[in-house]
Amino acid sequence: SGIKDLFAGDFYIGTALSGRDVQNQSQELMVPLRSNFNSLSPENLLKWQSIHPEPDRFNFDRADRYVEMGEGMDSHLVGHTLVWHKQTPDWVFQHKDGTGRSREELSFLMKSHIQMVMRRYKGRIDIWDVVNEAFTDDGQFRRSTWFNVLGEDFIKLAFEAAHKIDPQAELYYNDYNVWKPKKTDGILSFVSRMREEGVEIHGIGMQCHLGLEYPTIGQLEEAIQKIVDRGFNISITELDIDVLPNPSGRQGADIDANFPYEAQYDPYQNGLPNELKEMLANRYRDIFKLFLKYKDHIDRVTFWGVRDQDSWLNNWPIPGRTAYPLFFDQDYRLKKYLFDKLLHLKKT
Ligand code: G3I
Repeated sequence: SGIKDLFAGDFYIGTALSGRDVQNQSQELMVPLRSNFNSLSPENLLKWQSIHPEPDRFNFDRADRYVEMGEGMDSHLVGHTLVWHKQTPDWVFQHKDGTGRSREELSFLMKSHIQMVMRRYKGRIDIWDVVNEAFTDDGQFRRSTWFNVLGEDFIKLAFEAAHKIDPQAELYYNDYNVWKPKKTDGILSFVSRMREEGVEIHGIGMQCHLGLEYPTIGQLEEAIQKIVDRGFNISITELDIDVLPNPSGRQGADIDANFPYEAQYDPYQNGLPNELKEMLANRYRDIFKLFLKYKDHIDRVTFWGVRDQDSWLNNWPIPGRTAYPLFFDQDYRLKKYLFDKLLHLKKT
């Protein structure tokens, strides 16, 4: 039995797939995929840049494959993401001559995009990250082009358009650092207001790109409790834990301030030391313990990738890191030291 079986009856267990994953569908991927996950997310495949890179060029090939692959696995399916300031081509925001779009143009483009994508997968994708990362860490609206041109209305317009097309779909607002109190409060007061105005919004996606000690379980719980108190569901949408040194200095290894970060960013390229494996396993156990406490409000827990080798953290904050944030090693072997901790957690 795999991770999904451990949490059967609690929440879906998901993972994000890359373009290569859906292209190849190799056995070494498909075997662990089928036995460990019952929800799938598209890491980059459904983003605007991927499916509509130029005004006259569409590319649904990989997105279609993703949906077909999920259906073949009888998996719950996530759509990520309809409206975001990143991985959205420049032509969306400006004319060929570089001048910006008007309010009418931009809202038209946004609605058409949502209609086109959601119509194609209507009744097949279960849940959408309708808007991604529209708030800053201090709870203000991010000054993106969406916001600068359309004002805060853009979020409402997006959710309204989405609900109109697929009234059965679950519609979520998704963001990182949702646990930061000002951010949690900013998001919640806005989405609550939106819901009072009659807009359909069903839940909050907490990405959960975490460090070993940061944020604390208490900080995460405080945010989860606030979301629950406001009557929103929660999806854990992009879980991973970074054990590498980070310029923020908050991760598992220490940064020596006398040396440039670049010179010490990849200390574990030959493997993770046992004490860090233990810390990572304990951290995952504590996180899942918290999620289980709120299982009536958390519909899924999705890891941001299957194996370490494919994690975005190998490229962030700078390329060339060897990160160990996920549940599968380079050869698609489930990491026993992580799985056993969750098994034990479920038994106790
Ligand atoms: O596919 C091209 C390739 O053709 C090109 O040669 C290469 C050179 O840079 O880039 C490749 O594209 C990269 C793409 O990932 C696919 O690997 C982009 O540069 C790179 O920026 C992109 O990174 C993605 C990132 O979003 C971009 O914002 C990560 O894979 C993806 O994991 C990450 O996911 C986001 C979520 O959507 C939202 N929350 C945060 C999360 C982590 O940043």
